[in-house]
Amino acid sequence: MRRLLVTGGAGFIGSNFVHHVLEHTDARVTVLDAFTYAASREALEGLPADRVRVVEGDVCDAGLVGALVGELADAEGGAVVHFAAESHNDNSLADPSPFVTTNVVGTFTVLEAVRAHGVRLHHVSTDEVYGDLELEDPGRFTESTPYRPSSPYSASKAGADHLVRAWVRSFGVAATLSNCSNNYGPWQHVEKFIPRQITNVLDGGRVKLYGSGANVRDWIHADDHSSAVLAILERGVIGATYLVGADGERSNLEVVRLVLELMGRDPDDFDHVTDRAGHDLRYAIDPTRLRTELGWVPRFTSFEEGLARTIEWYAAHADWWRPKKARVEAAYAAKGQ
Ligand code: NAD
Ligand code: DAU
Repeated sequence: MRRLLVTGGAGFIGSNFVHHVLEHTDARVTVLDAFTYAASREALEGLPADRVRVVEGDVCDAGLVGALVGELADAEGGAVVHFAAESHNDNSLADPSPFVTTNVVGTFTVLEAVRAHGVRLHHVSTDEVYGDLELEDPGRFTESTPYRPSSPYSASKAGADHLVRAWVRSFGVAATLSNCSNNYGPWQHVEKFIPRQITNVLDGGRVKLYGSGANVRDWIHADDHSSAVLAILERGVIGATYLVGADGERSNLEVVRLVLELMGRDPDDFDHVTDRAGHDLRYAIDPTRLRTELGWVPRFTSFEEGLARTIEWYAAHADWWRPKKARVEAAYAAKGQ
């Protein structure tokens, strides 16, 4: 039976991955999570106690990480899946410090532990390490696109990716990497674009679009990100990087209009607000390697359907997001966003 240590397993995507693993494998999972503002105990509720253990702790705590990774050393199929990170660009502009600590030093700490114990690692990263594409550029990011990160968040993730590759090459650490595009789905924090707009409408507030809204993101449902990470963990080539995306390019303006339409509102009933500093123009993933080498296919091929289901989920889970909403909106309002 496989044993996994999932860092950041109480976050939006990490918790989705834990559910996915329990459903599709017989693995036992330890979640290591610092339970920052971004974590949700609720997202892990009801999971079988004989298969899931939750440890509250910091991924930068070398003693703790070393002990948890050490438990996997002799386990069949023992592996670390590293999701833990500070994840929100706007927060990284307000205060980069925790991004450098968690994303760079945290990844270093995980790498030293897997090196010491000879344990397999999958490192979860983002397409933002490649910077952005021009709006008119027909190209997409591939595994060989040069790194050109724009924000403190993406620079810290780029630093982490470089550390992983160096540990593979110099120390023979058995690691794979994935760089995924923008996720959406249940349990995403209300600071992020799609949940923010859905909950603004549900709360009777206004939908907020940064700048002109021409910026393009490549949307993928979190369930599909999880199935990709599991495929890489099970069949990926050590040392390889896989780009994860589901052909979901939409401009922010299109997304805002779709959210409003699906929620029965006038699609033009939104506000243009102060743009994000250094705002990346367009992300687009070429997932050919993942599809052809590992046979991965996304389940959510209709963004409209996935978004409609996400809206239903937020409408049914106001008890979870409402306590977080006021603080997030106050911080945005202070910046004219
Ligand atoms: P999230 O912010 O929802 O969750 C991050 C989790 O990490 C939280 O549970 C938090 O408590 C935990 N954490 C933060 N600092 C920690 C620390 N020092 N020690 C231990 N745990 C800590 O983030 P997410 O959107 O689920 O992203 C998860 C991973 O996927 C990140 O590495 C992110 O870079 C990557 N990613 C995210 C997206 C996206 O669209 N959200 C896309 C591609 C890649
Ligand atoms: O591409 C992958 C990345 O996607 C991940 O690595 C990050 O962790 C994740 O947060 C996400 O980054 P973005 O910055 O693209 O996502 P965010 O949800 O913050 O914003 C999406 C787009 O919407 C972006 O162009 C900014 C814009 N936006 C955002 C907010 C919060 C708005 O127009 N209005 C808003 O209110």
